Amino acid sequence: MEPIFEKDIEEILPQVVAWRRHFHQYPESSFNEVATTEFLLNEIEKLGNVKITRPMETGLVARLEGALPGPTIALRADIDALKMTELTGLEYASKNEGVMHACGHDSHTAMLLGAVSILSKNQQNLKGNFVFIFQPAEEFPPGGAIAMVEANVLDGVDAILGQHVSSITQVGQVGILAGASSANTDCFEIVVKGRGGHASTPNLCIDPIPVAMQIVTAMQQIVPRNISPNDKAVLSVTRINGGTADNIIPDTVIIGGTVRTYTKENREKIYERICSIAAKISAAENCEGTVKYTWGYPSTVNTPAYVEAITALGEELYGEGTVVTMEPSMGGEDFAYYLEKVPGCFMYLGVKNAEKGCIYPGHNTKFTIDEDAFSMGITMMLNGALCFQKLVEEQKKEA
Ligand code: NI
Repeated sequence: MEPIFEKDIEEILPQVVAWRRHFHQYPESSFNEVATTEFLLNEIEKLGNVKITRPMETGLVARLEGALPGPTIALRADIDALKMTELTGLEYASKNEGVMHACGHDSHTAMLLGAVSILSKNQQNLKGNFVFIFQPAEEFPPGGAIAMVEANVLDGVDAILGQHVSSITQVGQVGILAGASSANTDCFEIVVKGRGGHASTPNLCIDPIPVAMQIVTAMQQIVPRNISPNDKAVLSVTRINGGTADNIIPDTVIIGGTVRTYTKENREKIYERICSIAAKISAAENCEGTVKYTWGYPSTVNTPAYVEAITALGEELYGEGTVVTMEPSMGGEDFAYYLEKVPGCFMYLGVKNAEKGCIYPGHNTKFTIDEDAFSMGITMMLNGALCFQKLVEEQKKEA
């Protein structure tokens, strides 16, 4: 099988690289993607035949109607960056202080913009419709996906495809897996309230610090002693704050952290254990322990038939061994919300290349990618969308 749009992709690649470098230079944090949205708006308006809507303050949705009737496929890119300082030393490193595209969303945005341009140019030969979701705020819960879904951007959509660059997958490969590919991503904050006073008279105080230590220690047992050894779960205490001086016992200590699971049962069990430990250990020591729990993104669950379609496509276009089965990620991904509404899948585009120094993981200050992956990324998105159309049609026939 010849990849469709091969020539168009080859032609647009330098432009996609330029777009990506532009986004990389001017990264914007979650919900603040004003200039990025403006840039996308200008570029997409130029195409002339793509309808734009703006259901959120930042980000946008572009719609293209093919000349012939057919299924509607959504393609999604996230457009936000992270609040961190870039240390890559790249020529086109971030010019926005304290913000960095360290998760590759600049590439996702540029590749999807390339995909819109190519499909727009080929409108007369297309069947069905295409919805391009340029979503803000993937990195910051509640995230942009849930708002996009609530704004009904998936109305009439039959299936969805998303992709993320992967720093653990070699350039030239695509990673994917059926079922849960990302975790339920929740976080907690425990406030241990005692009664402060002078460090020399602990008998007149209720010192929350040793109580907080007991809570942190007890929490280490939650996963190994409550979750089946066959399941995966992580609980990390990542911050503990209390006190201001060496001679003052503080009133309170705050403990914060993250919980990652794949199933609803484990998600709820860990929540209950945290609440119980915080309240009961505090009570035993005359403190008050309260938990603020933030239920984050649900697990991204790929539809097996769509995973199979992408796998077959990748192998057909690029040969056997191109599509590798990923380990489920403990990371979060708000693409989950789209997949709760429509079938589809989320794939990983390999951007690792040791020869070019692209070895740092996402969210690292030195994270870089191999831009040679873009050709495959756009090819898989475009051909994947057409593949999904076929799959939807087959399924409709069968039904
Ligand atoms: Ni990301």
